[in-house]
Amino acid sequence: MKKIPSSEITPEHLYHQRRSFMTRLALTPAALAAVACAAPTQQTTAATPTIPPQALESRTDELGDPLTAYAAVTGYNNFYEFTTDKERVAASSASFVTSPWNVVVDGLVAKPTTFAIEDLRAIQSEERIYRLRCVEGWSMVIPWYGFPLHRLLAKVEPTSAAKYVRFETLYDPEQMPGQKEPWYTWPYAEGLRLDEAMHDLTLMVTGVYGSPLPNQNGAPLRLAVPWKYGFKSIKSIVRISLVDEQPTSLWMAAAPDEYGFYANVNPRVNHPRWSQADERRIGELGRRQTLMFNGYADEVASLYTGLDLRKFY
Ligand code: MTE
Repeated sequence: MKKIPSSEITPEHLYHQRRSFMTRLALTPAALAAVACAAPTQQTTAATPTIPPQALESRTDELGDPLTAYAAVTGYNNFYEFTTDKERVAASSASFVTSPWNVVVDGLVAKPTTFAIEDLRAIQSEERIYRLRCVEGWSMVIPWYGFPLHRLLAKVEPTSAAKYVRFETLYDPEQMPGQKEPWYTWPYAEGLRLDEAMHDLTLMVTGVYGSPLPNQNGAPLRLAVPWKYGFKSIKSIVRISLVDEQPTSLWMAAAPDEYGFYANVNPRVNHPRWSQADERRIGELGRRQTLMFNGYADEVASLYTGLDLRKFY
């Protein structure tokens, strides 16, 4: 992979935002130890820690897999609204305006609400290290920061008629030139069954690697559903609607034979044009076996009891 200059990876304003963000980031003892080892001469105070992402890279997920390098997490992206060139998303989205930003939560809820992004950042959040398996056959291990979606849904009180949750990305072709391309039904949309949305692993992400979310990763708010292919993890969300019918995602509309609603990571169900049995972990040589539900089977398999996972892919 091409080496990306750091000036392209982290726009300068993010370095400044990081200071206030870090005061809210709950670091694990292991992470703090890593920081201490990596930066023994750095002067920090409790109020304004500044932690370079590289100092956080030495951590692992619960399977013992190392974090993917910060440069790759923020420099190799899928965000078709800007470009289909993964290594150019960071530069192409650098001037994307994400403030002010509102998120409408509506539909089959007792209390439809428009939240300012600041209100959402105030929801109790934590760091979660998740594997992300892209349908294209590569994967990463990413330290997200955010809150489980169920904490937000509790505020709007879904009614008993709500069966699914539909998510929508901002539609703004002037800022997002990819949306002028006619091949897809914009805006990007995704959906989850309500019980999937309520699962504690389903995270609304506001930060990554100890910093506010960079534009290329879906600022200011994106989803992370670690047991599903990465395309379910929709970026730059402006609307979350509780609905009674299964939503049609952008990918289901674009290629219904290739992309199903569930999109659970499943090494036994091939994509029509390639195998899903193994994957390339970015930064590693060789390939590794893809795990059922991306390694989260203990947590989520019970959601799909009785469902034919070959038919409902
Ligand atoms: N969300 C929007 N709005 N547009 C996109 O093109 N790409 C998806 C997903 N969310 C995409 C999106 C795909 S295919 C993947 S693999 C992940 O974002 C990539 O997230 P990352 O760039 O933060 O790794």
